Amino acid sequence: MKSITIAIDGFSSTGKSTVAKQIAKHLGYVYVDSGAMYRAVTYYAMQHGFIDNNHFNIEGLVENLKAIIISFKFNKDVGFAEVYLNGVNIEDDIRTLEVSSFVSKVAEISEVRQKLVEQQQQFGKDGGVVMDGRDIGTVVFPNAELKLFMTASAETRAERRYSELIERGNTVTYEDVLQNVQERDYIDSNREDSPLTKAKDAIQIDNSNMSLQEQFDKILQLAKATLEKTV
Ligand code: CDP
Ligand code: CDP
Repeated sequence: MKSITIAIDGFSSTGKSTVAKQIAKHLGYVYVDSGAMYRAVTYYAMQHGFIDNNHFNIEGLVENLKAIIISFKFNKDVGFAEVYLNGVNIEDDIRTLEVSSFVSKVAEISEVRQKLVEQQQQFGKDGGVVMDGRDIGTVVFPNAELKLFMTASAETRAERRYSELIERGNTVTYEDVLQNVQERDYIDSNREDSPLTKAKDAIQIDNSNMSLQEQFDKILQLAKATLEKTV
């Protein structure tokens, strides 16, 4: 059977990565978290002083992009590929609110996008991939056989992300998480290069009132229907 490409875009904390992992596992596909790659560049910028006390040295970061090597390695204990920066596992380090508060500014930089999009296209060149992000159906894989665009109310998304951060042991408030989610929505949707927008041929799913199981069932059904149509 032919392998398809599944592109899942949408706003922060809509459940993209959760469902993308489940679908990839079910179909035996590769899952790629493109947001983790933007987070990895942000983490590098923070570690190397390009982002410091709200000052952002964009030129310095751009000059050093070649030094940033991002890779993924499957961890069978968690069941998905974790992200590595220059050989070091940074899967947990990139999920903090601090990284979240800068990542959208890093993702506005065209040189960063160009580097990461090239690598994402390499990951998906043979199909059989589920990738989630903001520009997967519009820029990275405009010919993806199945494109989804996920939405939910900002309050629902902030509640989900807040619970997740608390579970991971972070000290955050719901208000700060909501503010971050709304700020990123705005920057991601309004940037000049590859803004977050629904591809014309994407199927929109509002999961404000959907459980993880309902969301998985619906998307698996769409994937199976797409596979049947694809020869
Ligand atoms: O998981 P969450 O929705 O919070 O975000 P993410 O998928 O980890 O992405 C973090 C940030 O990276 C987004 O807010 C975007 O600024 C950027 N991003 C992007 O510009 N393009 C992508 N394909 C993926 C992420
Ligand atoms: O990748 P993205 O930022 O879109 O979202 P995620 O990391 O997959 O999901 C954010 C949180 O929302 C996770 O803790 C999910 O379990 C939760 N979630 C949920 O409870 N119900 C949904 N329908 C979707 C996500």
